Amino acid sequence: MSRPGALAAVVLAFAGHWILTAADVGAFTPCLHFFYRSWPPKGLSGTPICQRYDNLYRFATLYSRARRSPWFSAYLYSVPAGKRPSASWKFEPQLAYPGADGNMIPFPLGPLDQNVVESQAVQPDYINSTYSRGHLNPSLHHQRHQDRSASFTLTNVVPQKAGSNDGPWENLEQTVNKTLEGYCLGEAYVVTGIIPYRNDDHWLKNRVAVPEYLWSAYCCPNYNKNLPEELKDAFPTYAAIGRNDRNSTEEIVPVSETAKEQFRGYDVRKMPLETLEMYLKDRLNKAFSVFHEQCSGQE
Ligand SMILES: *[C@@H]1O[C@H](CO)[C@@H](O)[C@H](O)[C@H]1NC(C)=O
Ligand SMILES: *[C@@H]1O[C@H](CO)[C@@H](O)[C@H](O)[C@H]1NC(C)=O
Ligand SMILES: *[C@@H]1O[C@H](CO)[C@@H](O)[C@H](O)[C@H]1NC(C)=O
Repeated sequence: MSRPGALAAVVLAFAGHWILTAADVGAFTPCLHFFYRSWPPKGLSGTPICQRYDNLYRFATLYSRARRSPWFSAYLYSVPAGKRPSASWKFEPQLAYPGADGNMIPFPLGPLDQNVVESQAVQPDYINSTYSRGHLNPSLHHQRHQDRSASFTLTNVVPQKAGSNDGPWENLEQTVNKTLEGYCLGEAYVVTGIIPYRNDDHWLKNRVAVPEYLWSAYCCPNYNKNLPEELKDAFPTYAAIGRNDRNSTEEIVPVSETAKEQFRGYDVRKMPLETLEMYLKDRLNKAFSVFHEQCSGQE
C-alpha cells in the first residue's frame, strides 16, 4: 500500500470511530442487530436512537420529539436473571446536544438544563401525575444487569396507567418471558410500541403525549416444534394490544367485567401479527410492517 493510501485508511478508520461514538441519535445504522434481518419497522417516522449505556448498545428506540416519548423500542430478549435494579432514571444527551457523548446518563440532582427539558421528558413530568412510567423495553426481559439498567431511560418510557402497568400489561410481559424462555431456541426480536389517540388531545403536563394503547410483538423464527396446544399460534410471531384508558371504546380491545376493579378496563388482547398491523395502519393512516416479511424466513 502506498503512503497516501495508508494515510487514507487511517483517516477512514478514525472517521468510522467518530461516527460510532458520535451518532447514536439520528440513524439506526449502528444498532440494526436489534431488528430481525436488520430491518426496522416501516410506517412511522421519528428520531432513531441507538440506546447506548456503559459504552455498549443495549436496544433501539424510535423517538418522537413532538410527543417527547417513544413510538417503539426494539430489543433482543434474554432469559432474565437477578432482581429488578433500583431505578436510576436516565436521559439522552444527544437529543439536547447533537455533539454530546451518546451514552445515556442519569438525571443530575438539582436544576435541569433547559435544552434537556425542551428536548425530552424529564422526571417532574411524571411526578404527581396520574400516570406511571411505563417501560416499552422492560427490565424483565434481560439477563445482564447493565441491559436491565439501560431500560430505565425516559426515552424508553410512556405515560401508562398503573392499572395497566401493574396488571394486564405486566402479565403480558411475564407470559412472553415464559413462552420465549420455554420454546424459543434462537434469537427473539421484540418490538413494543404505542398507538396514539385518534385526536392527539391527551398530554401529561402539556408536554408528554399519552398513548391510548400499547402494543407488543415478537419474532422468533427458530423455535421448539413440540408446542403445547395453547401455544400453537404463538410462533414464530405473537402480538398483543393493551388498553391504557378505561374510557376507550371496545372495538380494538374488549373489557372483561370480571377483572378486579383496579385492573378493570386495562385489558390486553392477544392477536395475530396481521391483525395488529391492521389496527396500526388504520390509526396511523399508513401501512405498517413490524418485521421483515412478517418474520416468515428461516434462520
Ligand atoms: C408534587 O406535589 C407536592 C405536594 O403537593 C409538591 O410539594 C411538589 O412540588 C410536587 N412536585 C412536582 C414535581 O410537581
Ligand atoms: C421467566 O420465565 C421462566 C420460565 O418460566 C421463569 O422460570 C422465570 O421465573 C421467569 N422470570 C421472571 C422474572 O418472571
Ligand atoms: C374518563 O372519563 C371520565 C369521566 O368522563 C373522566 O373524568 C376521565 O378523565 C377520563 N379518563 C381519561 C384517561 O381520559
